[in-house]
Amino acid sequence: MKLHHLLLASVLSLNTTAALAQHAHDHAPGSDNRVVLALTPDERVMILEEMRLFLDGVQKMTGALGKQAMPAVAEAARGMGRKLAHEVPPALRAKLPLEFRQLGASVHGDFDQIALDAESLKDVSYSLSQLSATLQKCVSCHTMYQIQGPALDARH
Ligand code: HEC
Repeated sequence: MKLHHLLLASVLSLNTTAALAQHAHDHAPGSDNRVVLALTPDERVMILEEMRLFLDGVQKMTGALGKQAMPAVAEAARGMGRKLAHEVPPALRAKLPLEFRQLGASVHGDFDQIALDAESLKDVSYSLSQLSATLQKCVSCHTMYQIQGPALDARH
């Protein structure tokens, strides 16, 4: 790429960054435009518990990857696999949008695959790139949805 092309490209990307920052400013402080999943308190607790298991599993997995301990990598990944997708009560299931359920199922499926590949390939950087691709799905879902918690004034 010629120098002026490079300069133009970086000016354009600066403009995009500035536009994004401006967009963020347009929102009222504390506003959250994600789709709200209106769940009961118990349902919310159930989902958030599963989420914390995900975070715990990712922590274990990265720790094991750092030590190149592939059996432990597989164990941590499998813990987040389909077996974690325990029986979702039908009433809760019915409240979850199809896209939400599909993303969730796809994340569980990925972790089973990551476990299999960690065992057979024993390749740290391959496992890491798989983990990164799966974490992108966590990011996507969190960008789209929130769960309505107890009303703020009901907490006192
Ligand atoms: C299908 C959608 C979906 C996927 C996939 C998903 N999450 Fe979540 N997660 C949510 C929602 C919705 C919340 C609640 C967010 C809110 O209300 O602000 C949440 C909350 C969380 C929380 C907060 C838990 C708490 O106690 O408050 C953590 C941590 C978390 N997710 C981790 C993860 C990780 C790690 C992954 C991927 C391995 C993941 N999630 C994948 C939907 C998802």
